[in-house]
Amino acid sequence: MQSLIETQFPIARLSAESYKERKGASSQTLQKVGKWWGRKPLILVRAAILGMLIPAGVDPKRDREIFLKILTIDDDGVWMRCKPSSKRKLGREAFNSLSYSERITHCERPENSLGPDSKAWTEINTHLGTSASNLSELVFQLGERAFGHRPRIGDSFCGGGSIPFEAARIGGEAFGADLNPVAGLLTWASLNLLGGPESLQEEVRRFQAEKFAAARKQFSDWKIEVSENGDHAEAYLYCVEVKPEGCDYYIPLAPSWVIAEKFRVVAKWQRAPGSDRLQVEIAEVSQEELQLYKRKKGATIVDGRVVDPFDTDRSWSIEAVRGTRGLRNWTSEDVCPRQDDVFQERLYCIRWADSNGNRRYAAPDASDIQREEKVLQLLKDNFSKWQSEGIIPSKRISRGFNTDQPIRERGWTYWHHLFSPRQLLAHGVLRSQNVPSQLPEMYKLVASATSVGVCANYNSKLSIWIPHLAASGGIGAFAQTFYNQALNTLYNWGVRPLSALEDISSFDYLKPSASAFGPHSVKVADARELDEVCDIWITDPPYADAVNYHELGDFFLAWYEKSLARAFPDWIPDSRAELAVRGNADEFRPAMVEIYRNLARHMPDNGLQMVMFTHQNPAVWADLGMILWAAGLKATAAWTINTETEAAGLKTGNYVQGTVCLVLRRRTRSEPGFLDEVYPLVEDEVKRQIASMQALDEGSEPNFNDADYQLAAYAAALKVLTQYGSIDGRDVEHEVFAKRERGQVSDFQTVIERALGIACNVLIPKGLDAVWRDLTLVERYYLRALDIESRGERRNGMYEELARGFGVTDIKPLLKSDKANGARMYTPSGLAASNLAPVGSADQITALTKRGRGSSGAPHPFASSSLRHLLFAIRETAAADDSPELGRQYLRDTFGQTYWSFRERFVGLLEWFTELGNAADMQEWAEDAQAARILAGRLRNDHA
Ligand SMILES: C[S@@+](CC[C@H](N)C(=O)[O-])C[C@H]1O[C@@H](n2cnc3c(N)ncnc32)[C@H](O)[C@@H]1O
Repeated sequence: MQSLIETQFPIARLSAESYKERKGASSQTLQKVGKWWGRKPLILVRAAILGMLIPAGVDPKRDREIFLKILTIDDDGVWMRCKPSSKRKLGREAFNSLSYSERITHCERPENSLGPDSKAWTEINTHLGTSASNLSELVFQLGERAFGHRPRIGDSFCGGGSIPFEAARIGGEAFGADLNPVAGLLTWASLNLLGGPESLQEEVRRFQAEKFAAARKQFSDWKIEVSENGDHAEAYLYCVEVKPEGCDYYIPLAPSWVIAEKFRVVAKWQRAPGSDRLQVEIAEVSQEELQLYKRKKGATIVDGRVVDPFDTDRSWSIEAVRGTRGLRNWTSEDVCPRQDDVFQERLYCIRWADSNGNRRYAAPDASDIQREEKVLQLLKDNFSKWQSEGIIPSKRISRGFNTDQPIRERGWTYWHHLFSPRQLLAHGVLRSQNVPSQLPEMYKLVASATSVGVCANYNSKLSIWIPHLAASGGIGAFAQTFYNQALNTLYNWGVRPLSALEDISSFDYLKPSASAFGPHSVKVADARELDEVCDIWITDPPYADAVNYHELGDFFLAWYEKSLARAFPDWIPDSRAELAVRGNADEFRPAMVEIYRNLARHMPDNGLQMVMFTHQNPAVWADLGMILWAAGLKATAAWTINTETEAAGLKTGNYVQGTVCLVLRRRTRSEPGFLDEVYPLVEDEVKRQIASMQALDEGSEPNFNDADYQLAAYAAALKVLTQYGSIDGRDVEHEVFAKRERGQVSDFQTVIERALGIACNVLIPKGLDAVWRDLTLVERYYLRALDIESRGERRNGMYEELARGFGVTDIKPLLKSDKANGARMYTPSGLAASNLAPVGSADQITALTKRGRGSSGAPHPFASSSLRHLLFAIRETAAADDSPELGRQYLRDTFGQTYWSFRERFVGLLEWFTELGNAADMQEWAEDAQAARILAGRLRNDHA
């Protein structure tokens, strides 16, 4: 029997909800437990589980209505979730007239609502033949029906715990496992602390609050965060300083000296008589001067070079500053630079607040420097004791792709080197407070470990200080260490006082839900070794996601490996890098096949799997498909949900990324397939898949972008292919692992690629249906590429993917820009700058000219296409101040008698180009679009 998700999935609404949840940043439910990279949205997990448990009925429309109700993403459900203030302000009618994404900005997230109301439950139960009054009852009953018991839902790559957490929250029996003990801890904490009874949550909160209170008392006795006049520190700003060869003073380093944009506060440096250390002045500057500072006035790190602040013509490369001998590697006792180290560190500003909350930014004075020394001394007094008790890190950094960076750039070889003495002292004092609590020992260890993990993320020497208005209101704020997925060292950074740690690292209550958590368990294990049986496996493998979990996780593990070992004696407190799946290099394919074969073995015949994969590159995705196929699974459906915003700092703008959810079952029969039979089936499936997506796209809320369509084509091919155990007598596994020459592809890949070609031909730009059939492939490519450009697509990779689909090998001469995120096609007038002048025929190009040749020097098919001539005629029209005569004459001369048979097609194309000029961000087309309009008019009225 098919499950609902194998027939449909409410992609648009789920995308909107998932995106909102992920954009919720720190309000995300599991975030407070600790950092993990790429947590999956809980609403998506919930929908996936329910979609797999609910059987598909005979009436897809009713199925959909009921499904939306269960998730409270139907119209009534959304209204129910609408916040009272918005309800009053808007009223139901105005609310309903908004698009879905607009509506949910006024709503609680579905996970925070109490679920469907009793009226909805009546409808749900009638449709499904159940008798549930909340989600966990429903899940239980659906599980009983399908598997004979409460459904067991497993995740072998549980990471930050989204999947097991949500599975348990809606009443399933959840099992989560991960190779990494940090992931194990986060998942355990999510399930047992957040998911615990209210009284337990209360006790965890009290325990953490008391620890803070005790630490605060200690700090206040020491007087290390107050000024002479009783102001409290809110932030400490530090920077690195270096004394390059030939410079007789230390240069403090920062790419910008703006401290707080709102108050126009900057740091200015001066020579100090008789000292090789510069003096800092924290100054309030005029708006004009602030603008200069924002444009790097005084910056001492510019384009990666150290610049002399007093003579900007003088600069040194970082390599030169490090010197030929390289950096001294810090040793385990070091907590700050030694006197003769290349990189020194200094405090340059403190933000103070008085008891009324009035802020001031000040350079450190003598008493501040004394307090710095006191902090260092206090740390030294406790250092070895704390290390041996596992209260602060003592572990050496294992070398790796990301972990090499702090070693190489600063000589930091132990994890505690990534923290300043003030940070180590604060975290150490906090952790070492013994406060009485009813909590079992294990819970105390976990509550304290997760809390220090969050502190470490928000308070290390890798925490950027953000002065901007947009990001921090302009008073300055601290970023997290992992604002991206790396261990980037900084030239200047912010350090939090104890008071700025409590809020971020304290446990938050879970909003009450109407249903009871199901039973759950967590394991730290290699996915190859699991022997738990689950009815449903939902996984989000690390394959090709470019996050080195095992390296980054060590940043946290270093803080609590000893407590972890005490709390979970069966867990191996090590990231076991050698077993971690990563990349998509050949050597990880067998590991992936082994893992998925193992999972397939550990599910019942009617069990289901979902593999989630956030795609960048459809080729990698196709590769994953082959792996799953070789593991004995067959794909039954694939859906793309928009879940992710791009990692901050990499790109600007509103980028969305799709997560592909591939639904799989075990391949029970291994029927042989034959390529020539497979092609027509693939073609049908691709068309069907695209048609169903287009049908969903008809409404006001577009669901899919071009990447989604292309991906859907791959998925459709996979759905057909994976039913077979062999193709043309060749075994799948053998094909997946076969060593191939570079560029050589297997038959399987050819089928998948062919699916893309089919998709390309099915996806006709709106308004070109009538002419499409008569166009050549390269003409279609140019038009489709313009079509995606006009919808804002700028990723170069998408233009390349399209080219593959249309079989166009040389797109360079057609692209005005092939920047990674700035791809654009030439306009008709712009094409003058390309080599592709219009030429009669390929023969003529060969015979006569250099014109019309592609990047390789061979004749380019676009040069002799009729479209190219038409574009030339547009350009002639534009150049003649919109007089169409020259353009028309050109076409008549070029095409002779055939002009008349081409004329209608030309008019169709010209009309399309006219429209193009109206699309957002296509201003470049304005003049040519106008010319196209006039030329179209002229051709329409042309007579022999
Ligand atoms: C993409 S993440 C999962 C994120 C998770 N779905 C969430 O919502 O937080 C992939 C996980 O696979 C884990 N992993 C890598 N190799 C593994 C292996 N051999 N066995 C089990 N887990 C592994 C990594 O530690 C990482 O946590």
